Amino acid sequence: MKISAPKFMTDWKTGVVTGPEVQGVERRVRDLDGVFADEGAFSQLRPDRLVYRTACVFPVPEGTEGGVFWGTTFIEPGTVGAEYFMTKGHFHAKADRMESYFTFAGTGLLVLMDTARNCWAEEMTPGSTHLIPPYTAHRTVNTGDDVFSFGACWPSDAGHDYDSIAESGFSARAMRVDGSPVLVPA
Ligand code: F6R
Ligand code: ZN
Repeated sequence: MKISAPKFMTDWKTGVVTGPEVQGVERRVRDLDGVFADEGAFSQLRPDRLVYRTACVFPVPEGTEGGVFWGTTFIEPGTVGAEYFMTKGHFHAKADRMESYFTFAGTGLLVLMDTARNCWAEEMTPGSTHLIPPYTAHRTVNTGDDVFSFGACWPSDAGHDYDSIAESGFSARAMRVDGSPVLVPA
């Protein structure tokens, strides 16, 4: 029987994923209009400044029942006013689909919000492992001075509902207060 080399590699220190067909998205300042609270501070940032990017493996077509996707998100250090750089955040389109996150490098927060808009957060540090419950919006925040990277594994039929967050946002924001992260009601 044949034993083959692994198809993909994940560097457990950095989160860098290598292999065939690793693909991702980049989110720059110009892609994140309306995401951060301080519009004045946001307008001062270079539109092409990178905020976060992903490197993912999609072994089956999006929407396939029973498959899984795998990928790393890298969030740059930075703030918009006092608000830390973060992802857009989303519910899953099939809102009951769970997801797991696990931290490779840096420090951050996983901000969670249920459908009643109760918001809470978990600290993310290298090795921390997080199980995102069903019906729970999720967003990650880089609270450190270095690139923050974490892995994700989620069902291939989960999809993404970004519109609910674009319309109503999260009910709390992660802000730097006296040098430390605080979850402040929005
Ligand atoms: C997939 C997932 C992550 C995020 C990534 C970027 O369901 O939760 O892979 O997609 O961290 O964040 P968003 O998608 O909110 O821009
Ligand atoms: Zn997700």
